[in-house]
Amino acid sequence: MATVLVTGGAGYIGSHTCVALLEAGYQVAVLDSLANSSAAAIEAVGEIAGRRPRLDVADCRDETALDKAMAEVRPDAVLHFAGLKSVPESVADPIRYYRHNLESTAVLMEAMERAGVRRIVFSSSATVYGEPDELPVSETAPTRPANPYGSTKLMIEQMVADVIRADSRWSAALLRYFNPVGAHPSGLIGEDPEGVPGNLMPYLLQVAVGRRPMLPLYGTDYPTPDGTALRDYIHVMDLAEGHLAALESLESSAGQVHTYNLGTGRAASVREVIAAMQEATSHPLPYEEFERRAGDVSELWADPSKARSELGWSATRTLAEMCRDGWIWQSAHPQGYRSRSVP
Ligand code: NAD
Ligand code: WQD
Repeated sequence: MATVLVTGGAGYIGSHTCVALLEAGYQVAVLDSLANSSAAAIEAVGEIAGRRPRLDVADCRDETALDKAMAEVRPDAVLHFAGLKSVPESVADPIRYYRHNLESTAVLMEAMERAGVRRIVFSSSATVYGEPDELPVSETAPTRPANPYGSTKLMIEQMVADVIRADSRWSAALLRYFNPVGAHPSGLIGEDPEGVPGNLMPYLLQVAVGRRPMLPLYGTDYPTPDGTALRDYIHVMDLAEGHLAALESLESSAGQVHTYNLGTGRAASVREVIAAMQEATSHPLPYEEFERRAGDVSELWADPSKARSELGWSATRTLAEMCRDGWIWQSAHPQGYRSRSVP
């Protein structure tokens, strides 16, 4: 499997995965609408890896663009990151989320079928579990997403599984990410959210760099040791390497669909993350305590043992490294990709 098409490859996780793919020797082509990203990310991927991926600026719902990319790139497999990912946006505008995420995947898989490309790695999310009955959460835990975004992920998982049931030439890996954070240690690529960050780590980094005065800390009365919520934060480069392992597994899994948790199996509280980030940045990180954020679960962390035993992959980077690498990126690019000087 030498050539891959990466939808959403200019985005946060996609760009880091492109680096890992290029460094592993793959030919990489990206198809991205740039709806939530910048072509500068692809330039930076090229700087890190010494080879710049091809970039088609196109939407996954555009059949013509997909057919053209499939014909020209002739990929052996597709990594499908493209999609909308904001939980509150999905609650406010569910139809947009269902339409966008489901249609993107359906149109993509039709184009793959036309081109005879039948291997797919899909970006799912731990959000499909909702509030878990047991911790850590394994892949066999009940799925009950608590928001439309999570429902789109679960529906896509079902769609992919149905395609494989109908045609055993297909194979798929459905990767349920926990909380991806950090950046490539070069600091050349990283997370660059539009507007006010919705997630903890990018918000803290913007406080550290002086873009925001303080972090709103949501919820201090959870039934956890320090009263704040527990999550499984995973370094984005560990996550990227998980994609490589999943991609390699597709070579010998025709007719199969496998679901994997990609997490560390360790939990950190919001207060622990603030402390780790303070240590990494040597900046005071003021915060103010608020009520719980609607829809948040108290605790969620992975049982990653299936990925370890079947893919031979496990996360190795620590919370300190996640904070350090996030800070290298943010301090070098206070305004994200807009901070890059144009040659
Ligand atoms: P991102 O928004 O940075 O990347 C997504 C990329 O897809 C962007 O570059 C965007 O421009 C592109 N895109 C969106 N819709 C498109 C379309 N229809 N056609 C072509 N390109 C399109 O998000 P990310 O954090 O890198 O997430 C990547 C994937 O992983 C998403 O599917 C997301 O739902 C999933 N995921 C993310 C997280 C997380 O915390 N970041 C956690 C679990 C799952
Ligand atoms: C972590 C903790 C917040 C921001 C989300 C999506 C999930 C997945 C990953 C895509 C919570 C608290 C946060 C802030 C805070 N994405 N927090 N102040 O909610 O676990 O997961 O991203 O699939 O679907 O829901 O991550 O980083 O938003 O929050 O106190 O400004 O930090 O309340 O306890 P979450 P998060």
